[in-house]
Amino acid sequence: MNIILLGPPGAGKGTQASRLEETRGMVQLSTGDMLRAAVKAGTPVGLKAKAVMDAGELVSDEIVSGIIGDRLDELGAGTGVIFDGYPRTAPQAESLDAILTERGRSLDHVIELAVDEDALVERITGRFTCATCGEGYHDSFKQPKISGVCDKCGGTEFKRRPDDNEETVRTRMAEYRAKTAPILPIYEARGIVSRVDGMADMNDVAQAITAILDGR
Ligand code: AP5
Ligand code: MG
Repeated sequence: MNIILLGPPGAGKGTQASRLEETRGMVQLSTGDMLRAAVKAGTPVGLKAKAVMDAGELVSDEIVSGIIGDRLDELGAGTGVIFDGYPRTAPQAESLDAILTERGRSLDHVIELAVDEDALVERITGRFTCATCGEGYHDSFKQPKISGVCDKCGGTEFKRRPDDNEETVRTRMAEYRAKTAPILPIYEARGIVSRVDGMADMNDVAQAITAILDGR
C-alpha cells in the first residue's frame, strides 16, 4: 500500500507516519527528514537546501523528486510507503505519478489531516526530538516519561529544528496554502482522498487512519 499524508506544517504527518511504521511495517519517506539529513551531512543537495529551508520556502521540485525516486529504489517492491511532506506542488504530484508507475506502484490513499492553523504554531514551537533516535516530543502534549530521558532509546540529548520559530512557521503555512493545498483536487478527482480531524488526540487520529487503511 502506498499512501500520502497531506497537511500543513505541524498537522501531525511525521507523528502518524512513525506510528504506521510501528504498527504496519510501512516505511516513512519524509522529504523534510531527508533534506535535514543532507544539510547535516553537507552534501551538494544539503548545501543548496539549507537557506531555503531556514526561510520556510520550498526546495526545488527536481531535488525532492530526485531523492524520493532514489529512496524508493532502495526498498523492496512489496514494502508499503507513507509519503510525508511530498508531493507539495503540482509538478511534484505529476512526478510522483511517473515515479510510482515506473516502479509498478500506485497510490491507494491520500489522507488529509485537517487542522486549525492557529493551534499549529503552538504545536510547532513546542516540538523537540531525541538527538539519538529521532523520537518526537512536545513541551505540552508529549513530554518524555522521565524528564530529560528519551522513552524509546534512553538518550539524554534533545534538539529543536531551526525552522520551528513563529516567523518561519507562518511562511511555511503560506507556502502550504499557495502551493500544496491546490493539489488536493487532483486526488479528489481519483476518489482516493479521506479527511481526518488532525486536531483530535494523537491516538484518535491514528485510529481514524487505521480505519481508512483497513477499509472500515
Ligand atoms: P517538513 O519537515 O516536511 O516540515 P512540515 O511540512 O513543515 O511539517 P512538520 O514536520 O513541521 O509537521 P508534521 O506534520 O510532520 O507534524 P509533527 O508530526 O512533527 O519540511 C521542512 C522543510 O523542508 C520545508 O519547509 C521545505 O523547505 C523543505 N521541504 C520538505 N519537503 C519538501 C518538498 N516536497 N518540496 C519542497 N521543499 C520541501 O507534529 C508537530 C508537533 O505536534 C509534534 O511536537 C507532535 O508531538 C505534536 N502533535 C502531533 N499530532 C498531535 C495531535 N493530534 N495533538 C497534539 N499534538 C500533536
Ligand atoms: Mg514532519
